[in-house]
Amino acid sequence: MGAALPPGDPVPRDGALPAGTAVDPKTPFGVYLHVPFCRVRCGYCDFNTYTSTELQGAKQDEYADTLLREVDLARGVLSDVGPLREASTVFFGGGTPTLLPPGDLARMLEGVRGAFGVADDAEITVEANPDTVTDATAAELAASGVTRLSIGMQSSVPHVLAALDRTHDPANVETAVAAARRAGLAVSLDLIYGAPGESLADWRRSLETVIALGPDHVSAYALIIEDGTKLARQIRRGEVVAPDDDLQADMYELADDLLAEAGYDWYEVSNWSRGADQRSRHNLSYWTDADWWGFGPGAHSHIAGTRFWNVKHPAAYAQRLALRETPAAGREQPDAAARDLERVLLRTRLRDGMPVAELLGEGRHAVAALIADGLVEGAAAVRGRVVLTRRGRLLADAVVRALTD
Ligand SMILES: C[S@@+](CC[C@H](N)C(=O)[O-])C[C@H]1O[C@@H](n2cnc3c(N)ncnc32)[C@H](O)[C@@H]1O
Ligand code: SF4
Repeated sequence: MGAALPPGDPVPRDGALPAGTAVDPKTPFGVYLHVPFCRVRCGYCDFNTYTSTELQGAKQDEYADTLLREVDLARGVLSDVGPLREASTVFFGGGTPTLLPPGDLARMLEGVRGAFGVADDAEITVEANPDTVTDATAAELAASGVTRLSIGMQSSVPHVLAALDRTHDPANVETAVAAARRAGLAVSLDLIYGAPGESLADWRRSLETVIALGPDHVSAYALIIEDGTKLARQIRRGEVVAPDDDLQADMYELADDLLAEAGYDWYEVSNWSRGADQRSRHNLSYWTDADWWGFGPGAHSHIAGTRFWNVKHPAAYAQRLALRETPAAGREQPDAAARDLERVLLRTRLRDGMPVAELLGEGRHAVAALIADGLVEGAAAVRGRVVLTRRGRLLADAVVRALTD
């Protein structure tokens, strides 16, 4: 399910990294654990996730054991390229990790701990749907070492949730947040704006609900119409109206105003937190070029300049690992130009910004015009960093193009 994998070069069966790979022991190491199961598929979603009828023999109750085989394999592969590093962050993403019993998540985490070690102050996040979080689940996750719950709220307005095909009861968000709090977990809420039929007033209601719930962290994403999804088909057939860019821009500004007033600072274009220590360290590691291993079907990894990705279907993933073969389907070593482009793309979206000195000549020359257009902060540029203004955040893709053309 979801978008096709990139082509890439073949990976040897034992998963060995290319000759000459040298890991820098000081680069942080993150672990992503993908859980590719959902009760129903939301109409807009093209993540690599499967409902029970799509599993083609792959078994949800065997998933933890299967994934632990990849953990074993990764330990061997990484031992060959330098000293093993403790995980500084662990992230269970999906799909719906909380569809698995908390004991399975705990076992996977123990496997990671046994293979690499997990830092004492590690951030350990689990993504959850509001319907799947009870007091017992939250307490069990916290007891296994989980520190943070990221809850897929999306909206608090019933007709917006219905337009997104979300099946959860909006009241369950409050229950899930309270359960997480009682268990001592930090809380992040995910929102989507620009759903078909969602008005600015609807969006304000969702934001006010979020602020009243008082999470530590908020992610708010403009609804993206992904090819191949049910929503894309509905729009193509004219059954549903596509999101309006101007309305989505107004929604972004409203989110930033209300969240800032309530004490949440933006630190990435779509992410706000209460203070710097509530930022998602795991996501920051993707945006700042750290190393990470993504376990599970379709998961992507990045180790010392090599990117690789796993076969997508859980059945194919399990088959490869049953044969003690790597589940990696392909890999690439982006050249310097591709790495530079990606660095600008990711860093420019961060509050801390992109060092001007790391831009290539043409990009550096574009900065003055971007300041004049009100897209980049002049004061930050004087300090040597490209930091987006709010208008710049709305036009982040265009700014990146100007910095890299
Ligand atoms: C893939 S989900 C995993 C967590 C959980 N299954 C859930 O939906 O709550 C992570 C987040 O991605 C975001 N997302 C997924 N598809 C999106 C799309 N087409 N446009 C914008 N955001 C999207 C949603 O906000 C969702 O909470
Ligand atoms: S619950 Fe999350 S992962 Fe599953 S289909 Fe919906 S958005 Fe995608």
